[in-house]
Amino acid sequence: MRVYCAKDYDGLCRKAANILSAQVILKPNSVLGPATGSTPLGIYRQLIDWHRKGDLDFSCATTFNLDEYRGIAPENPQSYHYYMVHNFFRHVNVPASRIHIPNGTAEDGAAECARYESLLAECGGIDMQLLGIGRNGHIGFNEPSSQFESSTFVVDLSESTIKANARFFSSESEMPRQAYTMGMRSIMQAKRIVLAVSGGDKANIVREAFCGPITAAVPASVLQLHNNVDLVGDEDALALLPPEKDGYS
Ligand code: PGA
Repeated sequence: MRVYCAKDYDGLCRKAANILSAQVILKPNSVLGPATGSTPLGIYRQLIDWHRKGDLDFSCATTFNLDEYRGIAPENPQSYHYYMVHNFFRHVNVPASRIHIPNGTAEDGAAECARYESLLAECGGIDMQLLGIGRNGHIGFNEPSSQFESSTFVVDLSESTIKANARFFSSESEMPRQAYTMGMRSIMQAKRIVLAVSGGDKANIVREAFCGPITAAVPASVLQLHNNVDLVGDEDALALLPPEKDGYS
């Protein structure tokens, strides 16, 4: 694992955006795995800026989003589809036909998971996966549990995630109780993973994930088994990691 420590949120966004943009410049037809949440917003702003300046071209890229709420339409402002369109896709030039996000309104959850997995396999898997980390250690919506799920699945959201994300809905009762998420195998098969994290309230979970035991109780801990991970954080989020010379897994 490579650790990139930035002074603050803006700095970490620039570092993560640099890694993503290098990927797209070196391999224009990259398959990218975008993430949602508050952390990636500054990364997307930076990528959009470089795109507008003519330095970054997404016209050959393909994307597969990590997750989506179940039971919410793409045009619902709380959907991850809406988030991606408004915070990234409508400002850059990824061709619409190559943008993939689980369909939150699909009636048959299992069929939707199978459809998503088969599209991902057809595209040869993800070259660069962007991840955030939840305060409970989730990645995507892989919540702490007793076992890792492998491919895309329908997840019952944990109480802590419902509480954390309810702030985006007008009331907690409107917050969906289920979501689609790529499973651990799909994530771990990405050729390279960039995990972006900001803020002192994530410091404990970052330490647990990267220095603690590998366990489904801390889903992000499985990233210790991936051989190409960039952990990009600000000083506060990385404050509890031991000095790098002591080694991470
Ligand atoms: P956040 O979410 O970036 O909004 O903190 C991260 C996550 O829950 O994966």
